[in-house]
Amino acid sequence: VEPDAEWAAEIRRLAAERDAVILAHNYEIPAIQDIAHHVGDSLALSRVAAAAEQSTIVFCGVHFMAETAKILSPDKTVLIPDEAAGCSLADSITAEQLAEWKSEHPDSVVVSYVNTTAAVKALTDICCTSSNAVDVVASIDPDREVLFLPDQFLGAHVRRKTGRDNVLVWAGECHVHAAINGDQLTAKAGAHPGAELFVHPECGCATSALHLATEGAVPADQVKILSTGGMVDAARASGAREVLVATEVGMIHQLRKAAPEIDFLPVNDQASCPYMKMITPAALLRALVEGADEVHVDPVTAEAARGSVERMIAIGN
Ligand code: 13P
Ligand code: SF4
Repeated sequence: VEPDAEWAAEIRRLAAERDAVILAHNYEIPAIQDIAHHVGDSLALSRVAAAAEQSTIVFCGVHFMAETAKILSPDKTVLIPDEAAGCSLADSITAEQLAEWKSEHPDSVVVSYVNTTAAVKALTDICCTSSNAVDVVASIDPDREVLFLPDQFLGAHVRRKTGRDNVLVWAGECHVHAAINGDQLTAKAGAHPGAELFVHPECGCATSALHLATEGAVPADQVKILSTGGMVDAARASGAREVLVATEVGMIHQLRKAAPEIDFLPVNDQASCPYMKMITPAALLRALVEGADEVHVDPVTAEAARGSVERMIAIGN
């Protein structure tokens, strides 16, 4: 299936027929981003999903995102074009592992990244995304111990920003972002003096980015640790000629649209999320024709998880 004008017209016609809104994450392929009614980061898309007037949400993203939309809107139909679109980070902790960790720290507050299963969210006090993780932890009584999961690099960023050493961090990672390492970033920054650095906090190189700033190799105000939505806002505000981008490569499409005059260069051009790329033009067409794959979350789990997700969408930006 070619994502041509005929395909686009058919997608929009079928979406209208189903009373469906199409959401796409910033890591989807350009054709999927361009056909969606809304493109954004995890937090922005959760908020759009929660407020949607349509009876059906078609989530062009990965499974935990569609599941989060279903938790927020249990009466809506939530479709994902390919239910096999998982997430290595969400797979890095199970509900059983979290239950055991909690039993070792019974008085702690559990903060889970939105990249988790519904079963993990059901054992969580507050969810967060990369754009509000620091605000979420800062909203918790400083005397309470926090269990932060599952991403170790985002956890390290939160500890740095809040200055709290009572935030315990799970050792999980996203295989795509972990592979964007400090050596690659240092080499690219050396080859492009003057470039700004946009770094997603899930990256293995997030700490190295801050070291470059501390050592003066890159001026501190040119190093920005941002969610994918934060990168789009920063691109609009940036007067830079070149920006080095440390995140999944799908991000470059929205950045170029936001600031066509800037040269955006991926720090690692192999950093492509295989799960996000399962949402092909053919898969989206099939989803709208067949009404599949439908996302179901067991009502008891959804009920237990809802509070933590609602707290997430209420905090920060
Ligand atoms: P954000 O879009 O919220 O920054 O998250 C990135 C991500 O890895 C989603 O899978
Ligand atoms: Fe998960 Fe990483 Fe893919 Fe994001 S980029 S969906 S965290 S595997």
